[in-house]
Amino acid sequence: MADTTDTKSSNQMWGGRFASGPDAIMEEINASIGFDKKLFAQDIRGSIAHATMLAHQGIISAEDKDKIVHGLNTILSEIESGNFEFSRRLEDIHMNIEARLATLIGPAAGRLHTARSRNDQVALDFRLWVKEELEKTEKMLTGLIAAFLDRAEEHAESVMPGFTHLQTAQPVTFGHHCMAYVEMFGRDRSRVRHAIEHLDESPIGAAALAGTGYPIDRHMTAKALGFREPTRNSIDTVSDRDFAIEFLSIAAISGMHLSRLAEEIVIWSTPQFGFVRLSDAFSTGSSIMPQKKNPDAAELVRAKTGRINGSLVALLTIMKGLPLAYSKDMQEDKEQVFDAAESLELAIAAMTGMVRDMTVNTARMKAAAGSGFSTATDLADWLVREAGLPFRDAHHVTGRAVALAESKGCDLAELPLADLQAIHSAITDKVYDVLTVEASVASRKSFGGTAPSEVRKQIAFWRARN
Ligand code: ARG
Repeated sequence: MADTTDTKSSNQMWGGRFASGPDAIMEEINASIGFDKKLFAQDIRGSIAHATMLAHQGIISAEDKDKIVHGLNTILSEIESGNFEFSRRLEDIHMNIEARLATLIGPAAGRLHTARSRNDQVALDFRLWVKEELEKTEKMLTGLIAAFLDRAEEHAESVMPGFTHLQTAQPVTFGHHCMAYVEMFGRDRSRVRHAIEHLDESPIGAAALAGTGYPIDRHMTAKALGFREPTRNSIDTVSDRDFAIEFLSIAAISGMHLSRLAEEIVIWSTPQFGFVRLSDAFSTGSSIMPQKKNPDAAELVRAKTGRINGSLVALLTIMKGLPLAYSKDMQEDKEQVFDAAESLELAIAAMTGMVRDMTVNTARMKAAAGSGFSTATDLADWLVREAGLPFRDAHHVTGRAVALAESKGCDLAELPLADLQAIHSAITDKVYDVLTVEASVASRKSFGGTAPSEVRKQIAFWRARN
């Protein structure tokens, strides 16, 4: 390739930092090799499948195909062993590999690009990369779900306060709370599976945008590359980046779930709550305050969500309003996806470790579960069930009991029977059976409720699917 570097003086308006003319800037804005070298393995796999198909269809000779495949495999090991020199002048991974192939095998290298364009080539490489990343994400979410299932099983009976508005609401079990996250990450994983189905079509052979006059076999390359089938519209094929946006939106939703978990861990591990204690492996100390144990990993997971959301918005904005088919704007897709993928992987891995390692303080949770009049709803339900009151009236009676307990500085269960009967004459000493937190959670047997028996059913449901 000719060296087009221009040595005339730099542009007066914006060339201060450039030693040479505008070509240096052009090279800098144009080149993607700095980040798309990550796609080398996918690029080589795609080229081997393409060359093999070209020979099978009689478009190139078997000898040329053998040289091409051998040369590409050599390049693969050169890159893997760090013995490949990437050149920015060659713009991107596709041209870096093709130029090296020409050096290695001579003129036969020039036949590889028959019946294809960098437009379908990059669409292929990136799709293969995103597909592998989705498969990795699916496995990692399965690991996180498994960690929660183990903790849920261990704590199917451990009571804790359930919150709404972060105010004590009703007692729940820690196992039930863990299973809430299993539902969230289970939905994330099913979104990942759907995304794999959506992108499972091979772009190669769409060529620049219109298809090709060569008698290629796109079903053959699709099969060789592990895709379900080839894409059906060559214009859409080189224009589409919604597979990448779908990955980012799934990452953003999962990141949002992870950030809620991160926030709960931050709250639970404060000395004031003391519900969990993070292992040394997932916390840090303070350089000035010796008593501190900081939940840095959880905080960073919470923060990674910001990066992932940024990537989603960036790519949506890059793609918005682009005319069909390919435009160079689309080269900006990769860094967003690479960065979000790295953040998501780290966040899931850190959370899986934290969930597995943290020590759960069941005594603290139980004590907190009983405070804040958390069994008030149970008293109201008892009045409906045993004394036949309409729920609204029962709610009012219970409110008076809570106010009285509050003024006496005691719990509902500590109010003397005479006090309760003064509020409503139908109350008997049987009411004390429902005022404990254990009785409260055990009574909530409705499907999906917090009773240990129900939680165990949900654990069994997910174990069979994990
Ligand atoms: N580096 C380019 C990208 O990532 C490859 C495709 C270039 N195609 C073109 N027509 N210039 O998008």
